[in-house]
Amino acid sequence: MTVPLTIAIDGPAAAGKGTLAKRVASHYQLPYLDTGLLYRAVGRQVAKAGVDPDDAEAAGAVARDLDVGHLTDPTLRGHEAGELASRIAVHAPVREALVRFQRTFAASPEGAVLDGRDIGTVICPNARVKIFVTASAEVRARRRTDELVSHGRTDIDYARILAEVKSRDARDAGRTMAPLKPAEDAHLLDTSELDIASAFRAACAIVDRVLADP
Ligand code: DC
Repeated sequence: MTVPLTIAIDGPAAAGKGTLAKRVASHYQLPYLDTGLLYRAVGRQVAKAGVDPDDAEAAGAVARDLDVGHLTDPTLRGHEAGELASRIAVHAPVREALVRFQRTFAASPEGAVLDGRDIGTVICPNARVKIFVTASAEVRARRRTDELVSHGRTDIDYARILAEVKSRDARDAGRTMAPLKPAEDAHLLDTSELDIASAFRAACAIVDRVLADP
């Protein structure tokens, strides 16, 4: 029987985790879950329902009712949805409501790749491989700016994006519940100086090293 390969990929906003995690999942032929989408969908639903995003109990009720089968709306990946996600993600009732779905996904027989903020620390503390992806705030803001401009946005200002990246880091890392931080046994991968192909090679080297040393 093969041992399931669970890979936890955590890191701050715009570090390139999503692209990396998707490629890693496809390389090792594992199912992939972008857990940020769950928080984004809750944030979106909170806004739609006219619920106060700072009301922990009301946001938690929205999270418990979330239809996880519908996470495909492309606007969920936008910058505004990310800000709202970060706000509702501080609430314990929201996080608790999303734990079971994530753990069930991670428990698939072959394993899985999950990316987020607390995968290695809270959701899958026993993940076989944990990677914490970082890049300087300046590099992440530059990448985010270039991405938005390439999508045709003309109202994008690097300085504002940098300020938002920093404030999102502070909120995600400063919250009491499951703050953004590397697990003690996580492998750090700083992508500040790496393009996506090099980051992917570095991530696979980490996974292969762990697999070679059971
Ligand atoms: O990874 P992302 O940018 O799509 O995440 C959006 C927000 O959701 C992030 O700023 C904080 C929250 N989040 C979280 O708290 N825990 C996760 N595992 C994933 C995302």
